[in-house]
Amino acid sequence: MDKGADYEVKDINLAGQGFLNLEIAESRMQALMKVRQRFQREKPLKGTRIGMALHVTKETGVLVRTLVAGGADVAITGCNPLSTQDDVAAALAKEGIKVWAYKGESKEDYYRYLNNVIAFKPNITIDDGCDLVSEIHKKHQHLIREIIAGCEETTTGIIRLKAMEKDNALKYPMIAVNDNKTKHLLDNYFGTGQSTIDGILRATNVLFAGKNVVICGYGDCGKGVSLKTKGLGANVIVTEVDSFRALQAALDGFRVMPIKEAAKIGDIFITVTGNKNVIDIEHIKLMKDCAVLANSGHFDAEINVNELKKTAKPRRVRPFLDEYVISGKKIYVCGEGRLVNLAAAEGHPSEVMSTSFCGQALACEYAAKNKGRLPIKVIQLPEEIDDDIAKLQLDAMGIQIDTLTKEQKEYLESWQEGT
Ligand SMILES: NC(=O)c1ccc[n+]([C@@H]2O[C@H](COP(=O)([O-])OP(=O)(O)OC[C@H]3O[C@@H](n4cnc5c(N)ncnc54)[C@H](O)[C@@H]3O)[C@@H](O)[C@H]2O)c1
Repeated sequence: MDKGADYEVKDINLAGQGFLNLEIAESRMQALMKVRQRFQREKPLKGTRIGMALHVTKETGVLVRTLVAGGADVAITGCNPLSTQDDVAAALAKEGIKVWAYKGESKEDYYRYLNNVIAFKPNITIDDGCDLVSEIHKKHQHLIREIIAGCEETTTGIIRLKAMEKDNALKYPMIAVNDNKTKHLLDNYFGTGQSTIDGILRATNVLFAGKNVVICGYGDCGKGVSLKTKGLGANVIVTEVDSFRALQAALDGFRVMPIKEAAKIGDIFITVTGNKNVIDIEHIKLMKDCAVLANSGHFDAEINVNELKKTAKPRRVRPFLDEYVISGKKIYVCGEGRLVNLAAAEGHPSEVMSTSFCGQALACEYAAKNKGRLPIKVIQLPEEIDDDIAKLQLDAMGIQIDTLTKEQKEYLESWQEGT
């Protein structure tokens, strides 16, 4: 481990590769770069301390640089023990960013680093999964006076924040960045769709074509994973607990059945539910020889790996692949059951993270501009900001669209005209 006054990273000498990866990400994140150019001129975050617990990837690095360009002082740690890109962490440390993160963190280091970010006394928090907010609320309530707002990146984090709000436990305003259309309908759908498969392929190099691939959860992520999996020629089977989403899956042409049935016929299993023990030990025992299990939901609770470890001893057969032998059958688990796209691959492609992180950057600006005026609730960014992000991305892609004529505007606003 390399340590400095304001950083702890795996190897500071990896910075060179980190700078190159940041350069590539910036070339693919044109919408966010537009935000950065404006931030550089206007400095909307001047004097604001931003504490972040986000996957430390090259795309997050581009966000950090954007916030710094806006005048912020930034401290960052990871939000998952396996998702840090060590070269990017090294590059950020070299740039003078306060960064504590390495791939393969112990639980102790994970929470020590989270507490380093808290000790930085942030005015705005950015979370992916709510660990930072929850630690502040549990142990550092005296710091909340200084906090303007928090921004949350993922579905699981929003669920936890809404539970805090319901219990009257929430003590500062939270912006649900995940709920931007330009986040959950793009990042969760296209991003998770592609990068989950990327993670499984890097861990296993298994062929998807002709396989029975069981996808647990048909939300924004599950829909994306199903679509891409079908595109690879697999037979997609969906499991759900929500009637409407199960119906959507069936009408999209997928087989839908309970996990107990799917367990017997699946070759590859992917969980994306945000729930726990969706694939439990009783299901694993029903599986075929050489079944592959992967999770892309936020926490490593979706596949009951703890129980699996009690039943059989894992053998590491490839960098992100563990083999368990149960009743003579081999079962493979990717990335220790942690989100496979970040554990075994590089997370979402930069283009997708560009719109997600425009949401984070603009949420910070919105919070700073509305200091003291935001309700202590889980709130959404105004729709105009979401629309602006979509425009920035269309612009980056060189796509033009039509505008309503005066006649069309009037027609859409009127109720008198009929057949
Ligand atoms: N890997 C990534 O990079 C990434 C990106 C975005 C979101 N996420 C995470 O992925 C998870 C899913 O996100 P989402 O936006 O699709 O959420 P969502 O709420 O839109 O969908 C989750 C779906 O899972 C279903 N579900 C719940 N329990 C189930 C069970 N026991 N069996 C089968 N289905 C069940 C729900 O009914 C729902 O339809 C969350 O944890 C989120 O934080 C991961």
